[in-house]
Amino acid sequence: MHENLENRYRERIWENHVAEDFERDVLSGLRAAQKSIPSKYLYDALGSALFEAIVLLPEYDLPRREIALLKRYAATIVATVGGPPRLLELGSGSSEKTHLLIEAAIERYDTVRYTAVDISLGAIRAAAVQLLERYPQIAVDALVGDYFQVLADVPRQPRTLALFLGSNLGNYPGRRGCELLRAIYVALTPHDLLLLGVDLRKNRETMERAYNDPIGVTAAFSKNVLARVNRELGTEIAVDNFRHVAIFDDSTGNIEAYLIAERAASYAMGNGRGAVGFAEGERIHIESSHKFTREEIRSLAADSGFEERMFMPDDDAGFALALLERRDDG
Ligand code: AVI
Repeated sequence: MHENLENRYRERIWENHVAEDFERDVLSGLRAAQKSIPSKYLYDALGSALFEAIVLLPEYDLPRREIALLKRYAATIVATVGGPPRLLELGSGSSEKTHLLIEAAIERYDTVRYTAVDISLGAIRAAAVQLLERYPQIAVDALVGDYFQVLADVPRQPRTLALFLGSNLGNYPGRRGCELLRAIYVALTPHDLLLLGVDLRKNRETMERAYNDPIGVTAAFSKNVLARVNRELGTEIAVDNFRHVAIFDDSTGNIEAYLIAERAASYAMGNGRGAVGFAEGERIHIESSHKFTREEIRSLAADSGFEERMFMPDDDAGFALALLERRDDG
């Protein structure tokens, strides 16, 4: 990094931050009665590139909806902090949406501190260089590690505005979402703020279309996880025996994504790991994306120590920003 930028950049890497065990998780997931692969494994280099393509799909309109809301509300949100903020973003935020909040903060307070938490050192550095070059008023802290690991350890700082955008919270369904918000609570001081971007529940067809695009980008993103298993574990699973499907489940409020075996088959897992068999039509669960109601956001907030300050849905209530305030300890 350029010397002049280095003065405004600090980096901390949590040791063992790749604490995951791909082989163990994949094998136990594929041997369970309901087969599954944890969704975090969708994001290797190719999976991340395919996700960058998903956000350009007209059917997957979450990013455009969120950006429109941030354009409308960034100044108000930043004013609510009441002084020069520290933005604490989960995810490395190389995108337009973080820039909108940073610009609003600089406009109002002339200075801003930006702390990014991400598992990928490459992604976080790329985002940091962009921000440091574009905004001379910014200082950047890059915290590389698993969200839970970093949040347990991050220095607390008053006037923090934490950001968890892109409906990423939806990939932590049920209790896990509450645990993540609780981890954010612990990293904040009383009255700090948390801004969530959340996709809202709407008609089934619109929700399902966003995850079953007609040109197959989402299917490629999903199937890449099996291709990754082949690449990294040396297995020979016939990826073309699987079909991607994403269905809205009324009982959970989640879009559930599956890979479905078209034909019965058994695949050797290599290295003395035995074989994994599939019946015709058997499904591997690969991702849940929760679709929220306002009441759910409120009760999730209350259960994890926050109160709703502002709820900002877009005009047809398809997506919302929710600004939560951390309650006092106790
Ligand atoms: C990253 N995450 C919020 C996306 C979602 O909507 O659950 C991932 C995704 N999967 C398929 N399309 C997008």
